[in-house]
Amino acid sequence: MNARAAAARVAARLAEAHIPDAAFEAELLVRAAAGISRTAYFAGACLDTAALRRLDELVERRLRREPAAYLIGRREFYGREFIVTPATLIPRPETEILVECALEASDERPGRPTVVDVGTGCGCVAISLALERPRLRVIGTDVSAAAAAVARENARRLGARVDVVVGDLLGAIRTADLVVANLPYIPTAELRELEPELREWEPWVALDGGPTGTTLIERLLEECAARRVPFAAVEVGFGQAAAVKRRAEALGARTDVRRDLADIDRVVIARWV
Ligand SMILES: C[S@@+](CC[C@H](N)C(=O)[O-])C[C@H]1O[C@@H](n2cnc3c(N)ncnc32)[C@H](O)[C@@H]1O
Repeated sequence: MNARAAAARVAARLAEAHIPDAAFEAELLVRAAAGISRTAYFAGACLDTAALRRLDELVERRLRREPAAYLIGRREFYGREFIVTPATLIPRPETEILVECALEASDERPGRPTVVDVGTGCGCVAISLALERPRLRVIGTDVSAAAAAVARENARRLGARVDVVVGDLLGAIRTADLVVANLPYIPTAELRELEPELREWEPWVALDGGPTGTTLIERLLEECAARRVPFAAVEVGFGQAAAVKRRAEALGARTDVRRDLADIDRVVIARWV
């Protein structure tokens, strides 16, 4: 069967099950089942019986709300493809703003500043920084050893020089010039109300931000202030920027907030010099 015709059928089934971005996801699943590139997909590649069987299995799993990124094992971030597994959060487009903030701040610093990406997950932020600015010394840290292993594998595959260590926040880090973090920020009480793709598949250690959602973020800002880290940029959830900004200012920082494409306050920047 022609790949695009197969995708049209899959898209109709996904849409019927109210799965968002059905057409886009159908293309991803068809390409994964057939093992073909985007170019081959549009050039009229066909699926043989084995590929159609694989496609059926993937569609059944997607209908049980397993995220497409876990089914195909990949997600694009900042123009590169990262391996993702159920041990890692699936990178979100809004996190690319964190990369932009860190690149701008690092460009103001000569030499070889050390950037630490706290809660690195699959390593998407740390690896993007290392590849965009090879002069940086980049360290990714995560409390999850399984996530850290995926980050190391992504760094190896993409040819990025990133050290990945396991530890709580800055616990395993000696020194940092810039800290960036997309830590969990969903209030614990809201976890059970999330859509099934998040609630049942993404790791709770990557989602659970404590009672108000900002527990880990505030703890990280306290560690930055105590260790005299001059710059930190932290991603926050909807409605959290004001409280995080207040906390950073109470810790002596000058602050700034960056919005995402949906006009939501998304990154709080704290500077101590
Ligand atoms: C929201 S995910 C972000 C992952 C990745 N940076 C991204 O943007 O896709 C948060 C990550 O923080 C890690 N994490 C949770 N608590 C932590 C802690 N106390 N110290 C370090 N990392 C932590 C989780 O394991 C998870 O990988």
